[in-house]
Amino acid sequence: MEIEVIKFDNLGRGIGYINNKIIFIPKTIPGDIVDVQITKENKNYYEGKITKIIKPSSLRKDAICPYFSECGGCDFLNVSLSEILDYKINMINELLTKNKIDFKVKDIIKSKDAYNYRNKITLKIENGIIGFYQNDTHHLIEINYCYLANKEINNILKDLSILNIKNGTLTIRCNYKNELLLDIKTENKIENIDKLVSKYKIIGIVVNDKCIYGDDYFIEELDNFLFKVSYNAFFQVNPFICSDIFELIKENTKTANNVLDLYCGVGTLSIVASTNAKNVVGVEIVENAIKDANFNKKINAQNNLEFICADTKDILNKIKSDYDTIILDPPRSGVPSKVLNKIKDENINKIIYISCNPHTLIRDLNILKSNYKINEFIVLDMFPNTHHLESFVVLERL
Ligand SMILES: C[S@@+](CC[C@H](N)C(=O)[O-])C[C@H]1O[C@@H](n2cnc3c(N)ncnc32)[C@H](O)[C@@H]1O
Repeated sequence: MEIEVIKFDNLGRGIGYINNKIIFIPKTIPGDIVDVQITKENKNYYEGKITKIIKPSSLRKDAICPYFSECGGCDFLNVSLSEILDYKINMINELLTKNKIDFKVKDIIKSKDAYNYRNKITLKIENGIIGFYQNDTHHLIEINYCYLANKEINNILKDLSILNIKNGTLTIRCNYKNELLLDIKTENKIENIDKLVSKYKIIGIVVNDKCIYGDDYFIEELDNFLFKVSYNAFFQVNPFICSDIFELIKENTKTANNVLDLYCGVGTLSIVASTNAKNVVGVEIVENAIKDANFNKKINAQNNLEFICADTKDILNKIKSDYDTIILDPPRSGVPSKVLNKIKDENINKIIYISCNPHTLIRDLNILKSNYKINEFIVLDMFPNTHHLESFVVLERL
C-alpha cells in the first residue's frame, strides 16, 4: 500500500493516512512516499512498516548504522540533525499551544556529540544473542556496535559473548576515566570473567544485585564535582548535556537560600545548588542512591546539605514555605498531583522542573499554572538521534 508521509508524531514515527485513518510508520520521514505493510489495526489508527521506499524524502540521508532499519534503539539516524532539532522544538511548542500554556520555545541546547554520547546502555540477551529489541516488538536484533553508546562501551560490546550468558539483561556503564561497570541479571552461570577483566578497564561486575568482581559503584567526575554512583542509582546518560544542566542550576540558584531537591538521585543537582544556596535538602527513594549522596556530600566538601530517603509523596509535611526554591527532576511518570498541590499550597517562590518526558511535564505544568508562571523553558538535546529530549523549566510564583 502506497503512503505519503506527512509529518512526525511525538514518538518520532512518520504519519500518513489511509482513507482519513492515521497510520504510524517508524523510520519514515515527512516527504517519503513508501510502500507499507500494516502490522496493527486499531479502531482509530493503523501501525505499519516500510516494505519499500518508492520516493525518498529530500530530508532523507543514509543511516550510518547497519542495524538502523530494524533496531529499536534510536529513531533518526536517517535524517539530518538540524531537522531533528527543529522537530523537537516544534513538538514542544505544539504541546504547549494544545494545552493553552502561553510560552514559546525558540531554541534547543545541542549535545557536543550527537553520536557515541551515552555512558550507559542496557542490552537484552536471548538464547545467547545480545542486542536491542526491534521497534515495538520483542524480536531481538543482534548488535555488536551502537552509534549512541560511547567508544569504551562499544569496545567491550564485541566481546561480551564470551561470558556465555544465555538469557537476561546486561547494563554497561562507563565513567569519565573510561572505567566500566557491568550490571547483569540472569539465571545462568557466567563464564570467562577473568578473560574480560584482563582485557578491559572493568571496575565492577554485579550479578543479580550481588557484586562478584571489584566494586558495585563507579566514581564520575563532571565540572570539578565528584560523584559516587551505585550500580542501581541514576546518573544522566549524556555527560555533555548534564554539564549544561549543572550550569543552568548554578544560574538559577544564585540568590537561593533554602532549596528542596525532590528526586535527587546521588545528590548531583543538590550538590551543585549547594555551592550557591545556604541549605539544600535532597529527597530520593533509592536507598543506595541516598548512601551515595551522603558520600558525595563529603567528597565535594559541601556541608550545607541533608539527604532523606523517602517517596516524595510520603514527605508532604517537608514541603514548606521555608524553601524559596524547589528542584523537581522526576522519572518519566512525572510528579504526583498531591505533591504538586502541596507545593501550590505553600509559598515557595521558584520551581525548577527538569523533565525527560514532555507529556507528563505539560500535565504537571497545567496543575501548577494557576499559581506559577513560566519564566524560562529550555529544551536540551540530551538524547540526540532519538525522539527523546530534556526540558528545563523555571517557574515563578504569581
Ligand atoms: C530523573 S532522575 C533524577 C536524579 C538526579 N536529579 C540527577 O540529575 O542525577 C529521577 C530520580 O527520582 C528517583 N525517584 C523515582 N521515584 C521517586 C519517588 N517516588 N520519590 C523519590 N524519588 C524517586 C529515582 O530513583 C531517580 O534517582
